[in-house]
Amino acid sequence: MPLTSKELLEESRKRRTYRSFLEEPVDLEVIKDCILTAGTAPSGADKQPWHFCVVTDPEMKKKIREQAEEVEKDFYQNKISDEWRADLAKLEVNWEKPFLTQAPCLIVIFKEFYRTLPDGTQDKNYYVPESAGISIGFLINAIRNAGYASLTYTPAPPAFLRTLLGRPEGETPVMVLCVGKPDPNYELPKLRKKTLEEIATFI
Ligand SMILES: Cc1cc2nc3c(=O)[nH]c(=O)nc-3n(C[C@H](O)[C@H](O)[C@H](O)COP(=O)(O)O)c2cc1C
Repeated sequence: MPLTSKELLEESRKRRTYRSFLEEPVDLEVIKDCILTAGTAPSGADKQPWHFCVVTDPEMKKKIREQAEEVEKDFYQNKISDEWRADLAKLEVNWEKPFLTQAPCLIVIFKEFYRTLPDGTQDKNYYVPESAGISIGFLINAIRNAGYASLTYTPAPPAFLRTLLGRPEGETPVMVLCVGKPDPNYELPKLRKKTLEEIATFI
């Protein structure tokens, strides 16, 4: 039975970003289904310009954390604007990213601008950020629907992820989606979602 719009709204309101997870492993079959769900997203000219790299190996998670914390230290010390720092205050985030080793599963998501064909030519994609973003939305919803929590973590800059995970030149990392059972002791930031009047106009 499909959910009614009201039921889907109520379900969607329960989704929150968790920054702390239980260490119990995720079911990889479920993660595969969630990724296939993301793969059903619409995309410019149906080029499906995305790649999902699933990392559960503790050594690789450790490397990702180490390199992410390096760029984050630089970001928080030298690059962040006062305005951005103020906007982040309510979330209580800093350069430390313990969730990268704590979450049992990291899905590193790449947007694919082009694919290099065997003859050396480039097969280009269109509306790449838009398409990848829609696909990530599908993925986040599928993961929540499967009973897992997620965190959309975006290291700035994220380029180290491509080298670390051996992805091709035509791909650019978008984010690390940290996935696992939510830590029941994590205190969710108190946030207010905008009202319908604030986000929609009917003409
Ligand atoms: C594109 C994008 C980038 C984000 N980057 C980060 C991040 O680097 N670190 C983090 O802790 N949260 C990050 N978030 C999570 C947001 O802070 C979070 O979604 C927002 O505060 C709303 O909270 P909610 O998801 O619980 O509704 C990101 C979210 C999005 C959509």
